[in-house]
Amino acid sequence: MNILGIESSCDDTSAAVLTGKGICSNIIASQSIHLQFGGVVPELASRAHQKTITQTVEQALQEGDTTLDEIDAVAVTQGPGLLGSLLVGICFAKGLALSRNIPLIGVNHMDAHIYANFIDHKPEFPLIALTVSGGHTQLVHVRSPFDHEIIGETRDDAAGEAFDKIGKLLGLPYPAGPHMDKLAKDGNPKFHKFPQALLHEGLDFSFSGLKTSVLYYLQEKEEDWIKEHLNDICASVSLAISEVLVKKLKRAVEQTKVNSVVLAGGVSANSMLRERAEKMSNELGIQLYSPKISYCTDNAAMIAITGRMKAELGQFDDLDMVPFSSLS
Ligand code: KG4
Ligand code: ZN
Repeated sequence: MNILGIESSCDDTSAAVLTGKGICSNIIASQSIHLQFGGVVPELASRAHQKTITQTVEQALQEGDTTLDEIDAVAVTQGPGLLGSLLVGICFAKGLALSRNIPLIGVNHMDAHIYANFIDHKPEFPLIALTVSGGHTQLVHVRSPFDHEIIGETRDDAAGEAFDKIGKLLGLPYPAGPHMDKLAKDGNPKFHKFPQALLHEGLDFSFSGLKTSVLYYLQEKEEDWIKEHLNDICASVSLAISEVLVKKLKRAVEQTKVNSVVLAGGVSANSMLRERAEKMSNELGIQLYSPKISYCTDNAAMIAITGRMKAELGQFDDLDMVPFSSLS
């Protein structure tokens, strides 16, 4: 079954083609317009999606060496995300489904981050997914495909949000996560010990205190001093975040006794998190999977693969399918 995947939940317009050979194309048009605002402006995001979606889909078909005639189903992000942004992708997908008389598959964006791991690997169920993105931080017990139980989540900021907000305090461009990751590679993670909320209890997370503590820490320093120690600060913040994430992941594995874990979402591209998770899985003797970097952040390949898994289970949507903005 050849699937066209479409993703437009936030500020990336993406289209991908999945055939029997695997992912043949995964085009991502990132919106630079938000850079000047230090965060995503929803109204501008919807307009930019509207402008680029046709050419993004055309490019995906072309690069995937496929024509619309060969597409058997269209999978699109249904939510969570920005409503105006989601509507652009959904309306486009509905138009295609209607005009080509092919099935429509609405995909949950957070599920898709998890199933991005199935593009290049075959993780065994049951598994624990650590889903860490700009809007969510969750530990999900996945018993079988689409049988999910959230067993831990953030009580305030998401891990990606913490990276982005702390990066902003350090004068880094949005999204700051990848910049902090790069800078951290040449820094000393033990340079300063930042607080790690809830480290020793339960499976929930809290990152807002870390952000406040970095704010107070920086307020006492001169600008030149911060510049000089930027690598060390980024490394120390990355350690504070990744250590908590991996500690909770380990606790979730021990509680559920699964043999596989997957990393998912934009923050799963973080090198310190990947290294620490690898070490933890080796110690426990379990399998760890993480998507290749281009499948970690928002992309349509993950929508296409999840769409195919839903299609295999006979889960299709009607043309009156509507977007949803949040998980509940
Ligand atoms: O999954 P994603 O692309 O979008 C959402 O669904 O939110 O995640 C984006 C988040 C941003 O907060 C970004 O800063 C973070 O992922 N991110 C990273 C890295 N790459 C992306 N955070 C830390 N290290 C990275 N290498
Ligand atoms: Zn995402």
